[in-house]
Amino acid sequence: MNSLVTGRRLARELGEWRSAGPAYRALADRIRVLLMDGRLASGTRLPAERELSGALGLSRTTVAAAYSKLRDDGYLASVRGSGSTLVLPGRERGEHSLANGLPLDFTKAITLAYPGMAAAYAAALELLPAYLGHDGFDMVGLPDLREAIAHSYCDRGLPTSADQVMVTTGAQHALNLVTKTLHSPGERVLVEQPTYPHALDTFASVGARILSFPVSQDGGWDLRQASLQLRRAAPSMAFLMPDFHNPTGKSMTIPEREYLAAAAAREGTVLVADETTALLDIDRGVLPPLGCFSPGAITLGSLGKIAWGGLRIGWIRAPREVLTRILRDRPAQDLGTPLLEQLAAAQLVHELPVLADSRGKDLKMRRDVLTGLLAEQLPDWKVDVPDGGLSLWINTGTVSTSALALAARAEGLGLVPGPRFGLDGAFERFLRLPFGHDVEQLRDAVAILARISSRVGADPLRMPLQAVI
Ligand SMILES: Cc1ncc(COP(=O)(O)O)c(C=O)c1O
Repeated sequence: MNSLVTGRRLARELGEWRSAGPAYRALADRIRVLLMDGRLASGTRLPAERELSGALGLSRTTVAAAYSKLRDDGYLASVRGSGSTLVLPGRERGEHSLANGLPLDFTKAITLAYPGMAAAYAAALELLPAYLGHDGFDMVGLPDLREAIAHSYCDRGLPTSADQVMVTTGAQHALNLVTKTLHSPGERVLVEQPTYPHALDTFASVGARILSFPVSQDGGWDLRQASLQLRRAAPSMAFLMPDFHNPTGKSMTIPEREYLAAAAAREGTVLVADETTALLDIDRGVLPPLGCFSPGAITLGSLGKIAWGGLRIGWIRAPREVLTRILRDRPAQDLGTPLLEQLAAAQLVHELPVLADSRGKDLKMRRDVLTGLLAEQLPDWKVDVPDGGLSLWINTGTVSTSALALAARAEGLGLVPGPRFGLDGAFERFLRLPFGHDVEQLRDAVAILARISSRVGADPLRMPLQAVI
């Protein structure tokens, strides 16, 4: 059965969809972007033309023309009596395939593999024979690796024992496991706005009611909004990225950590701190993990950014009783983490301070190259230089980044438009631009952006509406 998106919900998702060209084309383009980056699923039934024209305050002719364009371009199928259904032709599903085959994939904030990766795998291969007597279904993680992860928390000032750690196939898997266990139908989840898009996907997949509070370049974490949401809605979980937040690159101050931990404790909300980016420190310095302020917090970690995404090793740090519940639920999702990768990961976790140091230096160079290129070629874009993380969160001022992403794609550059990081179409004028890529790729990407941004253009009808983030 196809799901139906109501006119009101579609109007919310569309956000600021208008651009300088004809309205029907802008509307069709925006619906196409929502489909391609996964905010509307293939198979979703669009509202009747009359309903959408009412919700958007447009003539029915404009909506009909937009639907007709989508149909002509192969994105909409109409069956008499059952309305119009979105279709994703070929391989275009989600932002991952949005860049499929594109020479410049800036849809992911990635790092190049740590130079010691191959050596870690080689050492793992030597160790493997000793594990071949093991049944191979490892649902909690190899003792050595869990021990090494626990030590790394102790080194950061958060006392941890190996039985508070479960190894997973990455932080995304960790978040899915935590969510499936902690979340019950009808409960609310609090997120930062903007936030990590696949966290939104995870919460949507369990039918969570998602609430948000702003994180901005200038103001940091809006604690007043956060505490209001916590008090009003008592969400079961709050998903936070306290260190080098994706996409803004911001880090919570110590008072912000203390405040959020105390506010969540008062309402019984479990803090889930995603630390996937926490060790990507360029020039910030050490801060205590959120878990230091919230004993019940759950922390997600990963080697995906600090070492290599292809390793697919992450973990959950949680109170033992929570891990026991997650372990009970885990077989419904997967039957364990591969051993060879865990053996390689153990080598790398032992060397985490070295990895972090080397990554920090490398990222500094790339961040500075990208900010320099942008200052030269797109001087009107407001770029705050983050002190860590993997990406710039750019306020373009006037450019529709959904339109920019479509135009960039035609030039071989994959981008994720700003609204993918928010709820209800927010951040249309924002762009996340990762800087972990090859320098040559950074150059090519900025050259394309400089060329097409004036073509996509400032929208004379819409002045910047995104001052508050
Ligand atoms: C904040 C955040 N959490 C989780 C992930 C996924 O991490 P992993 O590759 O370990 O699954 C990412 C990757 O982009 C991320 O940025």
